[in-house]
Parts: sequence; structure tokens; C-alpha cells
Amino acid sequence: MPKFDTMLSSEKVAARVKELGAQISRDYKGKKVVVIGVLKGSFIFLADLVRSMDMPLTIDFLGVSSYAGTQSTGVVAITQDLTKPVEGKHVLVVEDIVDTGLTLQYLVENLKTRNPASLEVACLLDKPSRAKVRVPVKYVGFTIDDEFVVGYGLDYDGLYRNLPYIAIYRGE
Ligand code: PRP
Repeated sequence: MPKFDTMLSSEKVAARVKELGAQISRDYKGKKVVVIGVLKGSFIFLADLVRSMDMPLTIDFLGVSSYAGTQSTGVVAITQDLTKPVEGKHVLVVEDIVDTGLTLQYLVENLKTRNPASLEVACLLDKPSRAKVRVPVKYVGFTIDDEFVVGYGLDYDGLYRNLPYIAIYRGE
């Protein structure tokens, strides 16, 4: 296992995720939400976020693939679709990171065509310095500098998703 520099400790992440959950619960008061996790990176953030959301919700997952190694290719493919239609539902997309924004742009456009009652995005990490397109994200955990980060669901070539904190990856 290479050595990692901590960018965001697990305590810091947990505190922020709780805040986001509370904010989302207030915003959606009286409504039911379909939480859509974008695989695979969002699975840990989603698991923690929904446990901070005090409201009726269901969960579905979308598989997308956009990366090879550390570089964004800009090519987005749906590798696994939702199990249920979201027409007329309040949809909250949960992402781990917005980098170039290309994945999210594709997803938002795709989901809009399915006619949800509303569509918002929660993302743990936003890297605005890398943005090629800007997609409105209502709930942002942390805005970070242009570092390659792993842990808490984020990977390098499939590895290190299980680190309990967010770390800067600087090679093996
Ligand atoms: C990551 C992340 C986003 C996307 C962001 O997914 O989860 O979906 O890249 O990058 P972008 O803003 O430049 O489009 P990745 O393709 O690495 O798949 P993973 O979630 O399975 O790790």
C-alpha cells in the first residue's frame, strides 16, 4: 500500500455529510425522494448520506464509466441502468466527485429526458479548476484543489476505495 497524504479526515467528511443530510432533509420536507447513486465511486458517500437523511426515500443506482487511469476521456457510457422509472419523482443524484463535469452533464441530460418531478445533485467533492462544463450542483461537500484523490469510494484503477478518508494520490 503506498503512503497517502490525508486531504480530508474521516471525521471531517462525516461531519460535512451529516450537515448535507440535514440540509437535504429540510429542503425536501414532506416529499419522497429517489436517491440515485452513480457507481461505483459514490457508494460510500451515498451510504453515509442516506443515513443522515430523515425522510422517506428509495435508492437506485446508475453505472457509468468515463475514466481510464487518472485521465478523464470525456467518453461517458451507461454500464448499468436504473431498475425503475423516475417519471414524476423527486430525484437526487449522488456523485463522489465532479471533475471535468462531463459525466454529470451527460447524466443530468439523460435523466431529464425521463421527466422527473425535480432533479438535483449532491456531490461530495467539486474540483472547479478542472471543469470543462459547469453543471449546477445544489449540495457540495467540499471544493478541492486539482489533486488526484482516492478513498471514501474514490479509486485509482479500482484500488483504494476502502480508505476511510480522502487522500491525495501521488503514485505508487
Ligand atoms: C468518476 C466520478 C464521476 C466522474 C467525474 O467516476 O465518480 O462519475 O469520474 O469525472 P468528470 O467530471 O471528469 O466526468 P469514474 O469514471 O472514475 O468511475 P467510478 O465512479 O467507478 O470510479
